[in-house]
Amino acid sequence: MAPLSDLLRAVIDELNMGVMIVDPELRLELWNRFMAMHSCRTEEDVQGRVLFDVFPDLPEKWFRQKVRSVLELQTLAFTSWVQRPHVFDFAGSRPITGKQSKMYQDTTFFPILEHGNVTHVGILIADATERAVQHQIMHDLNQRLSQEKVEQQHLIEKLEEAQNQLLQSEKMAAIGQLAAGVAHEINNPIGYVYSNIGSLERSAQDLLDMVRAWREAVEASGAPELVEKLDDLAKKYDFDFIQEDLSDLIAESREGAERVKRIVQDLKDFSHVDKAEWQLADLHKGLDSTLNVVWNEVKYKAEVIKEYGNLPEVECIASQLNQVFMNLIVNAAHAIEERGTITIRTGCKGDEVFVSVSDTGCGIPEQNLTKLFEPFFTTKPVGKGTGLGLSLSYSIVQRHQGRIEVESEVGRGTTFTVWLPIRQPEKQVDE
Ligand SMILES: Nc1ncnc2c1ncn2[C@@H]1O[C@H](COP(=O)(O)OP(=O)(O)OP(=O)(O)O)[C@@H](O)[C@H]1O
Ligand SMILES: [Mg+2]
Repeated sequence: MAPLSDLLRAVIDELNMGVMIVDPELRLELWNRFMAMHSCRTEEDVQGRVLFDVFPDLPEKWFRQKVRSVLELQTLAFTSWVQRPHVFDFAGSRPITGKQSKMYQDTTFFPILEHGNVTHVGILIADATERAVQHQIMHDLNQRLSQEKVEQQHLIEKLEEAQNQLLQSEKMAAIGQLAAGVAHEINNPIGYVYSNIGSLERSAQDLLDMVRAWREAVEASGAPELVEKLDDLAKKYDFDFIQEDLSDLIAESREGAERVKRIVQDLKDFSHVDKAEWQLADLHKGLDSTLNVVWNEVKYKAEVIKEYGNLPEVECIASQLNQVFMNLIVNAAHAIEERGTITIRTGCKGDEVFVSVSDTGCGIPEQNLTKLFEPFFTTKPVGKGTGLGLSLSYSIVQRHQGRIEVESEVGRGTTFTVWLPIRQPEKQVDE
C-alpha cells in the first residue's frame, strides 16, 4: 500500500472512529489511535497480523463475505448496530455509557483503489453506543406506555361494565321497590274486601234462608192473597235467579280477590325489598312468583311446563336470583315468534342446584353466543331490549359463585342453565 503523508496520518489518528486497512488476506496494514485505545494494542503489535488473530470473536465467515463483496464489486458495504451491535470485541479502555459495557458499532467497509484495482479494504468503526442507549430507553418507554394504555383500556372497560350493571340493577331495584310499594298499598284494601266477602256470603245465605222461611210461613198461614202478593214480588225481583246468582257472584268475587291477594304476595316475594341479604330460600317459590309477575308477557306466547325436581333451600339473595329468572323467562318469551313452549326445569347435582329455562324459539346464531353476556348486546328493536338483562344476570350468578350455560340451535330453541352452589363458601357470604 502506498505510504500515507504525515498530515493524513495525523488526521486519521485524530478521528473519533476506528480506522483499519486490510489487504485481501485480511492482514492489517493500518490501525489508528482510536483502535489502539479501545483494543489496548499498538499498531506495531497488530501490523501484518490477520484480523481474526487480533479479534478471535469476529464472525469469520460473515466478515470474509463482506470484504470479498467490497473487493469484487468495488462498492461500499455497511452494517449497522441494529443488525450487529458489537462486531469488534474491544478489550476495554473505552468510557462506559450508563450500564453499557460493550460498544455499539456501525461498521463501514470501503474499497481502496490503486491504478484502478481494489488492492485493500478500509474499515471504519463508528461508536453508536449513545444512540443505541437512547433507542433502548425510547423502546422501553414506548413499551411501558403501550402496556399502560392496554391496562387503562381494560380498566375503562371494566368501569363501563360496572356502571352499566349498576344502572341495570338500580333499575331492577327501583322496579322492585315500586312493586313492593304497590303491593303494600293494595294489601290493606284487598284484605278487608276478602274478609268482607266471607261475611257477605254468610249474610246473603242468612237472608235467603230467612226469605225462604217467611215464604213457607206465609204459605202455611193459608192466606191466599198474601201468598199471591209474595209470588208477585218474587217474580218482580226474579227471586229464583237471585238465589242462584248470588252465590255465583260471591264465589267469583272471592276468586278475584284471592287472585289479587296472590299477585300482591308474588310482588312482595319477587321484590324481597325487605330481605336483600343472604338467606336460605326456596327457588321454586321464587320461580313461581317471578312467573306470575311476568305472566302477562308470557301467556300469549307460550305454554309453560314446569319440571321441578327436588331442591334443597339454597343460600342466595333471592330477590336478585328472581331478576335472573325473570330475564331468562322474558327472553324465552321474546324468542318465540307465534306460539311455543317454555320449559322450566330444576334439579340438584352434588353440591349444586340448577334451574334451566328452555324455549322453542328462534335460537341464537353461533357468532352471537360469545357476545350474549356483554352489556348492551341486543338484537331487539329500540325500546324492546336494552341488552343489559344477561349481563346483569351473569354478574348476579357470578356473585353467587355459580355459572350460566347456554345451548342453542337456530330455528329450534335455546336453553339457559343457571348452576348455583347450595351453600356459599365463607368469604362470599358477607359481601
Ligand atoms: N332465549 C333466547 N333465545 C334467543 N335469543 C336470545 C335468548 N336470550 C337472549 N337472547 C339474545 O341475547 C340478547 C341479549 O339478551 P339480554 O337479556 O342481555 O338483553 P335483551 O333481552 O335484548 O334486553 P333487556 O335488557 O331488556 O334484557 C337478546 O337481544 C337476544 O338476541
Ligand atoms: Mg333480556
